Amino acid sequence: MAQNEQTSYDTLFGRMAVEQKLCTEDEVRTCQDERKKRASEKPSTLEQLLLEKRYLTLSQAERLKVSIRESRDSSNQIPGYKVLGKLGSGAMAVVYKAKQLSLDRTVAVKVLPKKFVQKSDYVERFYKEGRLAAKLNHNNIVQAIDVGEVGGLYYFVMEYVEGKTLYDDLSKGKVFSEKEALEVVIQVANALAHAHAQGLIHRDVKPKNIMINKDGVVKLADMGLARETSDVRAAKHEQGKAFGTPYYIAPEQIRGEMDIDGRADIYSLGGTLYHMVTGRVPFDASAPAEVMKKHLKEALIPPDHINTALSAGISEVIEVMMAKDKKDRYKNMEEGIVDLQAVRDGKPPLIARQRFNLEALGELEDGAAVEMPNEKSLRTTEEALTKYKMMVIILAALSAVLLLAILFLALSR
Ligand SMILES: Nc1ncnc2c1ncn2[C@@H]1O[C@H](COP(=O)(O)OP(=O)(O)OP(=O)(O)O)[C@@H](O)[C@H]1O
Ligand SMILES: [Mg+2]
Repeated sequence: MAQNEQTSYDTLFGRMAVEQKLCTEDEVRTCQDERKKRASEKPSTLEQLLLEKRYLTLSQAERLKVSIRESRDSSNQIPGYKVLGKLGSGAMAVVYKAKQLSLDRTVAVKVLPKKFVQKSDYVERFYKEGRLAAKLNHNNIVQAIDVGEVGGLYYFVMEYVEGKTLYDDLSKGKVFSEKEALEVVIQVANALAHAHAQGLIHRDVKPKNIMINKDGVVKLADMGLARETSDVRAAKHEQGKAFGTPYYIAPEQIRGEMDIDGRADIYSLGGTLYHMVTGRVPFDASAPAEVMKKHLKEALIPPDHINTALSAGISEVIEVMMAKDKKDRYKNMEEGIVDLQAVRDGKPPLIARQRFNLEALGELEDGAAVEMPNEKSLRTTEEALTKYKMMVIILAALSAVLLLAILFLALSR
């Protein structure tokens, strides 16, 4: 292999070793540095160094080489496209940067592994949703271009986005300011409102599917990429992957309900906003099943309890977006956008506030005590208590005086 080719192979080898969780980023970096140091007197490949330092076993390295070979072979079979390199990979697929030869433009091609596509009704939905998505045209949606199959390999061609994903920022521990987060989320909300109006539900809104291009424009990815019929199965696919689907999945998707609508996307977008402004996923646990249980049963810690710098308004909006029962959420994305924009503009989120009042009214009708933990009501309670205490003291003093008078009269007789 020529020097240049070897270097790009090493980069791919290192990236895939980390993606497949065989070694850590630090271990790969250490070996890359070592490789550069040795370049003149004792040239070594990244693979040799990872083996030498025992970061990788011999059989792991062999398996890794096979999967690199397989993905290269398969991606080069797609007619009309020339693969330029790998962009990344997720739980279900590998994404390549490619040249669409007919139009001489750069695109991204997502290739699905055979085992995934073999599921009975998946192929049908893959084509149906892919074609529907290709008809969408929105500045905040990664444009779907083509879907196809070659030699049993299914691929999804889309607009190439030069930039980063929201996950890249969050995984570095970035906590967004309220305003910055809202600017991003409103763009995603606009993308969703457009897709929902055309009858497409995303079903997998999460930081990894939100890209920000180099001009700062937000692009929702994987719109029209059909998911598994069972969202629980799809979620389990992503087991062990930090920030995988279970962190943002809507309760009705976990329950496997069939009539999933746009409100599931509203929940997931609410979860994403929660993560952006608090630095934490809404529900965390060591196993995906536990996370899903919490989505179903556990009350959400209000975001402004975690980050006290947040306004009450943004907290209310997130809580409505993430209501466990979809009936308690915004009834559609447009409604959500009205409140998100209001908070961004420093105004109260009127729809969310109305929801909260209705909820309190519902509790009153049920005969339950309504908690109103606002400052005003607390002050009123305190004032009443002080008055009560004063009255008790006066009564006690009067009784004592009366008792003394009786005693005095009785003794003086
Ligand atoms: N249109 C695109 N343009 C540029 N890069 C892309 C594009 N689509 C995806 N990528 C890159 O490819 C990576 C893998 O994408 P993919 O959708 O397969 O997985 P994911 O969304 O990151 O995770 P998961 O499989 O857990 O849903 C992304 O993280 C992103 O870096
Ligand atoms: Mg994706």
